Amino acid sequence: MSEKAILIVGDKKLEMPIIVGSEGEKGIDISQLRAQTGMVTYDPSFGNTASCSSAITFIDGDQGILRYRGIPIEQFVEKPNFVEVAWLLIFGRLPKREELQSFSDQLTENELLHEGLNHQYQQIPVDAPPMAILSASLNNLACYHQQFLAVEDIESLGAVAARLISKVRTMAAFSYRRSRGLPFIYPDPHLRYGANFLHMMFSLPYRQYVVTREMEDALNLFLILHADHEQNCSTSTVRTVGSARANLFASCAAGVSALWGPLHGGANVEVMEMLQRIHDGGISPDECIRMAKDKESKFKLFGFGHRVYKNYDPRAKILRSCCDKVFATLKRPDPLLDTARKLEELALEDKYFQDRKLYPNVDFYSGILLRAMGIPTNMFTVMFSIGRLPGWIAQWKEQHEDPTTKIVRPRQIYTGPTKCDYVPMEQR
Ligand code: ACO
Repeated sequence: MSEKAILIVGDKKLEMPIIVGSEGEKGIDISQLRAQTGMVTYDPSFGNTASCSSAITFIDGDQGILRYRGIPIEQFVEKPNFVEVAWLLIFGRLPKREELQSFSDQLTENELLHEGLNHQYQQIPVDAPPMAILSASLNNLACYHQQFLAVEDIESLGAVAARLISKVRTMAAFSYRRSRGLPFIYPDPHLRYGANFLHMMFSLPYRQYVVTREMEDALNLFLILHADHEQNCSTSTVRTVGSARANLFASCAAGVSALWGPLHGGANVEVMEMLQRIHDGGISPDECIRMAKDKESKFKLFGFGHRVYKNYDPRAKILRSCCDKVFATLKRPDPLLDTARKLEELALEDKYFQDRKLYPNVDFYSGILLRAMGIPTNMFTVMFSIGRLPGWIAQWKEQHEDPTTKIVRPRQIYTGPTKCDYVPMEQR
């Protein structure tokens, strides 16, 4: 007999089924709670709430495990191929050779932006935040691809996914070029996904940027490690927007907006600023740790702590060793890497961090790696968005294919004034 949870409220007794996931995770199904007791659950920020069931990504935060469609992320390290992982996440299994080739061809076919969209970059202030540009550009894409506002079948989904994944990289590179007053470099169809992005970022009309295999691998790895992370803040945003049957462009643009926040994707920018400040002598590592522990200071040790991981974030572990590898080939050490290591050492030895199970998260080392590629700090969260896009698409697709999906509409516990009367202006 399947397990049940029993809730007794006053004289009412409610039996609730227990849902068991494929890795043994259990959740109490409270869907009949309000109908049967008149009550709702109170779970601010949804720390105890599974908002959906999903077959895409598995995380065990206590053990530091992350798997995409069952495959541990460590298995993508040796031959990192972001396009392959994107296909895996979206379509649910590893692609066959011809499927991967066909998807790569679609990415190449769709790498250009409509010239109308290109012109928008001329209207934007040069110092505009790249995440604002990216979110607006993704929404704008809907104007040029209106045939995909409704996605009816798997072919259309594949076509719109290819457009988004391909064009996001062109948009990111063009917004960077605009911010530097540099001419746009159009994509080169002969280059692979990551190399093509670096070409659009750093080539000049008179000099082709040469991408080393190490750098291309590091970029692929960075993108793979950011590709999905189950129901995090931006993904939940994509699903919430998508639940209203909003199109994929609008849903992903909303995801970018959520990711922009410094407590989410913006954390790697904060990490770099913190490390730079330490390096410049503005603050010592010990002072940084002291401030992070002081609740009055409002300062956090950015790149540390995670809602789900109460152990070392497996992505941070991979990025840490990727940094070592990249700097060994570059033969150009980054002093911020030493600062990061020192800070990590101090935090991991500290009782405050130990008691709260605060470990480095993905953002702690990702900025250092991006810096090694020449990516400026204000583009870091854009890079995260490029990586996360396949995850958002996969989650949106899964939600749309689920016949039980309803519009997301949480309840609240109202704490405002009880009924009172409108007071005319002259009597206030
Ligand atoms: N520095 C100092 N103290 C911290 C930190 C930190 N980075 N993170 C958590 N804590 C403390 C909290 O103040 C709290 O202390 P208390 O129990 O004395 O009140 C305790 O640890 C528990 O933390 P919560 O706030 O409950 O953790 P929550 O799950 O709400 O937040 C979050 C997770 C937002 C990531 C948080 O750890 C944080 O702000 N970290 C810094 C920002 C960051 O690196 N964000 C990137 C996350 S990864 C990503 O989004 C891709």
